[in-house]
Amino acid sequence: MFSDKEHEINSIIKQSHLKHDNITYLSIVKENLKHPIFKTVSLIAEKNCVDAYVIGGFVRDLILNRNSKDIDFVILGDAISIAQQVANKLGGLKVSIFKTFGTAMIKYRDLEFEFVGARKESYNSDSRKPIVQTGTLTEDQNRRDFTINALAIKLNKENFGELLDPFNGITDINNKIIRTPLEPNITFSDDPLRMMRAIRFATQLKFTIHDDTLQAIIDNKERIKIVSKERIADELNKIILSEKPSIGFKILEKTGLLAVIFPELHNLKGIEKRNGRAHKDNFYHTLEVLDQLAINSNDLWLRWAALLHDIAKPATKRYDPKIGWTFHSHNFVGEKMVPTIFKALKLPQNEKMKFVQKMVGLHMRPIVLSQEIVTDSAVRRLLFEAGDDIDPLMTLCEADITSKNEEKVNLFLKNFKKVRRKLKEIEQKDKIRNFQPPISGDEIIKYFSLPPSKIVGDIKAAIKEAILDGKIHNNRDEAWGYMLEYCKSIGIEKNY
Ligand code: CTP
Repeated sequence: MFSDKEHEINSIIKQSHLKHDNITYLSIVKENLKHPIFKTVSLIAEKNCVDAYVIGGFVRDLILNRNSKDIDFVILGDAISIAQQVANKLGGLKVSIFKTFGTAMIKYRDLEFEFVGARKESYNSDSRKPIVQTGTLTEDQNRRDFTINALAIKLNKENFGELLDPFNGITDINNKIIRTPLEPNITFSDDPLRMMRAIRFATQLKFTIHDDTLQAIIDNKERIKIVSKERIADELNKIILSEKPSIGFKILEKTGLLAVIFPELHNLKGIEKRNGRAHKDNFYHTLEVLDQLAINSNDLWLRWAALLHDIAKPATKRYDPKIGWTFHSHNFVGEKMVPTIFKALKLPQNEKMKFVQKMVGLHMRPIVLSQEIVTDSAVRRLLFEAGDDIDPLMTLCEADITSKNEEKVNLFLKNFKKVRRKLKEIEQKDKIRNFQPPISGDEIIKYFSLPPSKIVGDIKAAIKEAILDGKIHNNRDEAWGYMLEYCKSIGIEKNY
């Protein structure tokens, strides 16, 4: 069933099919131009006798009924001067000016307005530095990435709200199609990042990439190498943060882009069979895990952990005639691979990366726990290692169950519930999550008059182990008693 708003949009979209000159007056568009910025730009454009349009992603999102915080304006004239006048009118806001590009930006509450002169733009074949020349509105629309991103709405008083749709972007929105306005090889060679953008929009909007556009991505995939790693990572992050990230990764793989930008992930693909025994395809398994995790977590870095949890499976794969395929220690090898992958993709080398490493390193632990009889000491050890990250770790591990056997899945999930319950109980009792040694090294040194040495560390470790094994509770009195006993057993006593 359609909502009223969707009905309205659909009927307007249908009306636009009847037009042959690609100019349609959209009452719904007018409706949605109520924000004071549009009237302000309109008045100032009028005063300066220039044409002004709102263009690109904002218009697309308006038609799609999506929220958009960036509003791009194209001015057929001096965009910087118009931006300055708009900023004054809005109460003396700051304008950031980028003279070489002829653009200006204003931040207004949680919105960002960008003003740019209409331009035709082309790029050197071996760099992303654009050669910018003034152009007409049509030339400006021509040089944009996709038909759905080339829509413009006129803001001048006379035709306020007029939609200019030279490439049938509305039809493509209606048919859920991503397609370039020009011959795709031209659009992609102007800016190869657009290949990633096509896949990102297909993922976010659940649109299909038009066959010719898809073929051009396959043909131009090597050109992605001239794009900065940061811009590629931005698009990857947007795919990962989508509702169903697997859509994007499957297209990245299909077009060959994945092998160029992220070979480790591409290497997960494939099934090997020996003596009639096959292992699962770890690429598709990984995508299933990521999609399942995405249902329960919007955390970008936990989603990265899902993407990388089995990344070392190709490197650790062995065939043992007795037991079949093994991937011993793939969690630890994977943990070590994370910094290299993050560095290559120019992702942050900070605590976010450490979190991903930790998740990859520990992702097998709760599964093992859920299969065995769950002992308190095993749960305590897991809590000690995962600390505050225990909840995201459990969420990752639950997403890692991708068996097609419903009975098996239910059993795993039931066991995980048991593990979660036990984690809660033990945490309440023993406060292991943020474990702090109940006795410090300094205290041990002073009490036994020891020099600072390895033995002090050994005593601290023995106390920690006793707590994790459940021999004593995590409190100072029991720890002190245990320390005296332990030290006596290794021949250390207090000197009076
Ligand atoms: N654009 C383009 N080629 C690019 C980047 C942007 O043609 N490589 C154009 C498109 O018309 C796009 C507009 O610039 O709609 C604004 O770009 P941007 O803000 O990056 O993207 P949006 O389309 O607004 O989408 P999002 O905010 O989701 O990134």
